[in-house]
Amino acid sequence: MDAELRNVLQRMPKAELHMHIEGSLEPELIFALAERNGVKLNYASVEELRRAYAFKDLQSFLDIYYAGASVLLTEQDFYDMTWAYLQRAHDDNVRHAELFFDPQTHTERGVSFETVVNGIYRATQDARRKWDLSASLIMCFLRHLSEEDAFITLEMSLPYRDKFVGVGLDSSEKGHPPEKFARVFAQCKELGLHLVAHAGEEGPPEYIETALDLLQVERIDHGVRCLEDPELTKRLARDRVPLTVCPLSNIKLRVFDKAVDHNLLKLLDAGLVVTVNSDDPAYFGGYVNENFLQMFDALPLNKEHAYQLARNSFEASFVDSESRRKYLGEVDTFFGK
Ligand code: HPA
Ligand code: ZN
Repeated sequence: MDAELRNVLQRMPKAELHMHIEGSLEPELIFALAERNGVKLNYASVEELRRAYAFKDLQSFLDIYYAGASVLLTEQDFYDMTWAYLQRAHDDNVRHAELFFDPQTHTERGVSFETVVNGIYRATQDARRKWDLSASLIMCFLRHLSEEDAFITLEMSLPYRDKFVGVGLDSSEKGHPPEKFARVFAQCKELGLHLVAHAGEEGPPEYIETALDLLQVERIDHGVRCLEDPELTKRLARDRVPLTVCPLSNIKLRVFDKAVDHNLLKLLDAGLVVTVNSDDPAYFGGYVNENFLQMFDALPLNKEHAYQLARNSFEASFVDSESRRKYLGEVDTFFGK
């Protein structure tokens, strides 16, 4: 890739819409927090932990991801984790970020919902003040747990309703279809929350369809397997349902073997509202700009594609219409449009 395109990808204003804040915990911070909190890890060193990041599928990643999150105990821990991510996002010229958080990973360990949300939220407020970087939160339900557990979590979240903008669905996809959470999502919709769900990452295209029909989601997280179903692909394009694609995640979790095998360009060519995101940047080898760079290195993508992806990221975001206009204006100005 030439230096100009590289520079464009790094410097263009962008939104990141698919990242799990617990997936931004770098091994160094995991060890620092473990020490601060007296938590014992099953890894002797940062290097040994990093060596364990050789995943064969989604589940093998999730096992390590949940182990890493076990060092988070205090509000300050959640603040420090979030602040570290926002600093990296700012370095990558992210102007707006939507952060997933997994309360059940923490409440199951006896950490209160309040501790989790207040720590993360406080960091987002500081980032807005310091860099004019806006960040909002999306609460995810763990799909390997029960519907009842999700309802309990929703109930717990209600006093903090003003601190998050939507709900999502993550964790082990196979065997946990969207319909398991249809009633919870219906209640979230009543509450005026935005709705998203992971679907079609490892799971089949039918999960994308049921996420749309039964959960009424506004975006699909991942969704890369939609191309296996031409009718579904047409529907996603026609209805402009955004896909939050995470290229390095897909490669690390063996959804695609190598960067050149990724279907990002095919998704764009199918007319889909594709966005590029980092998913779990500390585990998958890079933050959002690294995802752009590796895709543009591997596939015949050009500056027009970069423009499209930057626009899509704001179009697909949950910002208010005035902010959307402002950000799209920043993109147009950056690209001289
Ligand atoms: N997929 C499902 N659940 C997750 C992921 C993912 O990529 N990252 C963190 N939780
Ligand atoms: Zn994800």
